[in-house]
Amino acid sequence: MDQSIGLNKIKTAVFISGTGSNLKSLIKFSNSKYSPIFIELIVSNNQKAKGLKYGLINNIKKKIINFKNKKKSENKLLLELKKNKIQLICLAGFMKILSKNFIKNFEGKILNIHPSLLPKYKGLNTHKRALENKEKYSGCTVHFVTTKLDSGKIILQKKVKILKKDNVNSLAKKILAEEHKLYPKAILKVFSL
Ligand code: GAR
Repeated sequence: MDQSIGLNKIKTAVFISGTGSNLKSLIKFSNSKYSPIFIELIVSNNQKAKGLKYGLINNIKKKIINFKNKKKSENKLLLELKKNKIQLICLAGFMKILSKNFIKNFEGKILNIHPSLLPKYKGLNTHKRALENKEKYSGCTVHFVTTKLDSGKIILQKKVKILKKDNVNSLAKKILAEEHKLYPKAILKVFSL
């Protein structure tokens, strides 16, 4: 890619832990001329995260931080983010909870995508809980990250209908497909050029 394309864009780090399908969609978006962000760095707490392959394919730097000692790991990470002049963090399936200290260092500059219609179903196993409660709808939310888990200001949400035949896997699949569209839209809403 022509490196000059990223020059005026917001230097972004995407944090992942697993499959990285949201990372894949964010990379695609960031390569479009409409994107206000440029993905400078991929961070993972898991060196086996499948999503790291998208970094390789697209020639994006990566940093693996194991989070075994949270304080030390976060301090290392903060240095790396400073070194790379990161201005925005997008959590995309990142399954570690960041400390208050870390979040304060990037106040108002961390976004997250969550697989439920927040404020419903914060935390883990969102699809299982939505199905158990016989919800008619679930969906996904992009929100700002604050020190209270999954509780920051909501930027955008997308509702998905739950059908009688849905199970955890089918619901996760439908919602994930919407996540891939919602994250870029939310970024455009906050930072349109
Ligand atoms: C996505 O559904 C994302 O919303 C969720 O993990 C999945 C990651 O998929 N995130 C959380 O549950 C955060 N608490 P991906 O690795 O394919 O993007």
